[in-house]
Amino acid sequence: MTVQWKGDGPGLLLQLDRGTPRQLGHQLQEKLRTAIRTGALRPGERLPSSRGLADQLGISRGLVVDTYAQLYAEGYLVSEVGSGTRVAERAEATAPARTTPVDHPSPRFDVDFEYGIPDLASAPVRDWVWALGDAARLAPATLMGDEPDRGDPRLREVLAAYHRRVRAGASVAERTIVTTGFRHALTLVLATLAQHGVDCVGLESPGPRDHDRIAERFGLRSVPVPVDEEGVEVAALSASGARAVVLTPAHQCPTGVALSPGRRQELVAWAEQVDGFVIEDEYDSEFRYDRQPVGSLQGLAPERVIALGSVSKTLAPGIRIGWIFAPPTIVDGLVETKALTSRGAPALDQLALARLMESGRYDRHLRRMRTTYQVRRDALIDAVNEHLPALRLTGLAAGCHAVLRLPSGADEAAVVAAAAQRSVAVRGLGDYRMDDVGAAEPGLVMGFGNVNESAIRRGVRVLADVISDPRQG
Ligand SMILES: Cc1ncc(COP(=O)(O)O)c(C=O)c1O
Repeated sequence: MTVQWKGDGPGLLLQLDRGTPRQLGHQLQEKLRTAIRTGALRPGERLPSSRGLADQLGISRGLVVDTYAQLYAEGYLVSEVGSGTRVAERAEATAPARTTPVDHPSPRFDVDFEYGIPDLASAPVRDWVWALGDAARLAPATLMGDEPDRGDPRLREVLAAYHRRVRAGASVAERTIVTTGFRHALTLVLATLAQHGVDCVGLESPGPRDHDRIAERFGLRSVPVPVDEEGVEVAALSASGARAVVLTPAHQCPTGVALSPGRRQELVAWAEQVDGFVIEDEYDSEFRYDRQPVGSLQGLAPERVIALGSVSKTLAPGIRIGWIFAPPTIVDGLVETKALTSRGAPALDQLALARLMESGRYDRHLRRMRTTYQVRRDALIDAVNEHLPALRLTGLAAGCHAVLRLPSGADEAAVVAAAAQRSVAVRGLGDYRMDDVGAAEPGLVMGFGNVNESAIRRGVRVLADVISDPRQG
């Protein structure tokens, strides 16, 4: 069936194939969307009345009314009393322009050893879709309302139980707060501690980048605390005047050391002594290869340790769910800060994460990824042994990154720049040092989570060329 429809504009040829009313409705919607996207129907242009179009096409008026209603809801059309139905002014700009997957910008580097990126191609999308479907089936109507303070109750139960079981934590749902990731959690904690009179926070050096800037945003001074082969130096922390410290104890970012048992005890004693808090970033605790799992510090001193976690490394950073296991003294403050600064995390996704964990699919994914990362880590070790036999890799027992120690006196920045010239991205240890505090030996932080084995070998070959070039010092 073909109809030449004459509107205000140049007119539109609509062709529909006969089918069921449902198929006809879908066809009509798609034809109109395409006409708007391609400019065949222009912004402001008036559409025929529903009765008129139904008559022309020989279809029921209800079908046209439903089609207009759908396109109105999608933002393609506007409808005003007295002027009928028109194409929305910004319809072309706002309309979803394609149904094929959206391309992300192509990578700038052939090999990117950036720290902290999990294997994005292995994100468990199918399991996540299953979990969302299951969550939608289970969801009470109230789920679509405002988030209960602290987050979805079922997810909080599941997270706390998981933490007790897998990380020897001492968490309870009552003191578990859902966030949109670690970074959100950290901002809530720092803002709340500032309210509790904490004015200075210790940060590992070398340590995660940007934490000093985050602390500053919340009016907190930050002091760098050096890290050695046992983790953060507690004596230096004691001397710093800080009353809180942010740590990555399971696999220190970026050196990869695990906090030693002695330091764990010293830290807890320090926190008691200064009436302070340890903020434990549980990042990387899930992936370990040659050593026994290390329990959460929070399990040792739940009144003093605020444990923060997220699924950014275990599932994918794009999922954006994290949590806080809070000590009793600050839980109300955290809940208040959260309520004042956000309305929480997406409800269905929270329930989906609970379902993923309850169903065993989360653990299955972790087991699979542990193997993937171990194979990549071994490929890195082999490539360094082959191409850079004189250099040492450290921090290999867990996680998705290691540190390649450069010859003492090597110019780290020159190596990084020369590698980038050859399309290999890597950061120097210096990028993670605050105010030049912490051991200054040169090194490269090699993230291998999102780099496959052949890319690892290619990248290491380039690094070997660059490092052996006498011009790199
Ligand atoms: C040290 C560290 N902790 C935690 C995270 C996870 O942050 P988020 O959950 O906000 O993605 C990252 C991300 O790269 C990180 O580098």
